[in-house]
Amino acid sequence: MNDLLLRACRGEAVERLPVWIMRQAGRYLPEYREIRRRVDFLTLCKTPDLAAEVTVQPVDRLGVDAAILFADILLPLEAMGMELVFTPGDGPTFPQPLRRREDVAELVRADVEETLGYVFAAMRQVRRRLDGRVPVLGFGGTPWTLAAYAVEGGGSKQFGHLLAWSYRDPEGLAALLDKVADVSVDYLAGQAAAGAQALQLFDTWGGLLDAERWRSLARPPLLRVIEGVRRAAPGVPLIYYVNGGGHLLDATAELPVEVLSVDWRQPLAEVRRRVGPGRALQGNLDPGALLGPVDEIARRTEAMLLAGAGGPHVANLGHGIFKETPPEHAQAFVTAVQETSARLIAEGRLPQPAAERA
Ligand code: CP3
Repeated sequence: MNDLLLRACRGEAVERLPVWIMRQAGRYLPEYREIRRRVDFLTLCKTPDLAAEVTVQPVDRLGVDAAILFADILLPLEAMGMELVFTPGDGPTFPQPLRRREDVAELVRADVEETLGYVFAAMRQVRRRLDGRVPVLGFGGTPWTLAAYAVEGGGSKQFGHLLAWSYRDPEGLAALLDKVADVSVDYLAGQAAAGAQALQLFDTWGGLLDAERWRSLARPPLLRVIEGVRRAAPGVPLIYYVNGGGHLLDATAELPVEVLSVDWRQPLAEVRRRVGPGRALQGNLDPGALLGPVDEIARRTEAMLLAGAGGPHVANLGHGIFKETPPEHAQAFVTAVQETSARLIAEGRLPQPAAERA
């Protein structure tokens, strides 16, 4: 098996860097759009055959070094009893958002096998279809980010309802976050039991908070998730991604996770300096760079590889790929990582840890 991703997560030597792309299964691929012409997004998530098929599409087309299960971070909120609607153009919405402490009681402690079994079935199928070609990642949202959608009712510019609640009644909001955390543990552990070989936690809205408030509001339920998943799925590497969270690095670098996924606005070399050689980093090419010319993609990818030097590195974008990206440009990125990192490692410019002696 190509286990480059797992070796990089564990801090072991690699002969080239692993690469995958956040949102690699999606609308920039014609073969994905072809399937989406026939079924809506939620149906796709809930049909294991189709979810497994689109999960494998970018592995077949681009030769990425990992698959990521096709699903969504918002599915557990639906499982907890919230109506979830995906309207084309608007993105996901919850028509009945949670706004006050009393609303938290409406959320049910979902039995994930019963309500989210389709995700686990898709994961098992992905493992069968990949047959060891590359590892597969599972994922979930962090409690803070899931709460952002549950309280706001969808995406938002200012997240005023969420922020108002956080200042008015932090204990009530904490009760919501803990409830979401408990179901998230079951959801992530269920993905691992079904075959996920690493798990990524998306903190898409963590960057809304200053460092002190991130520590007091977002971190406790996140640690509850991390600790719960560790107990249920020991040995499965965890990747933490925060969007727009450069100001949180001192706090996020303390998280007990194997990999920190860095967004494109943070200089990777500076993150490497600050976290040291022991921590694997993931990222962080600007997804916008894939809209530019391919020679520029190759040049910027090489610079990114050198910026990550000095410790384990999983090459990726700094956020999800844009749906406008030409697939050949995604290919140029993947190929640039694979060829250039092999050359840089052979030249000794991306030093690898000495092989363990038996
Ligand atoms: O990375 C992958 O290929 C795996 C699949 C995946 C999806 N969503 C599928 C999807 C993953 C990892 C996610 C995570 C996710 N979902 C996040 C965190 C990542 C991030 O971007 O920070 C968030 C915030 C969501 C919630 C969500 N789902 C939004 C806001 C939207 C609408 C925006 C958009 O891109 O359309 C979705 C829809 C969604 N999730 C799509 C896909 C492929 C597009 C659906 C379509 O086919 O129309």
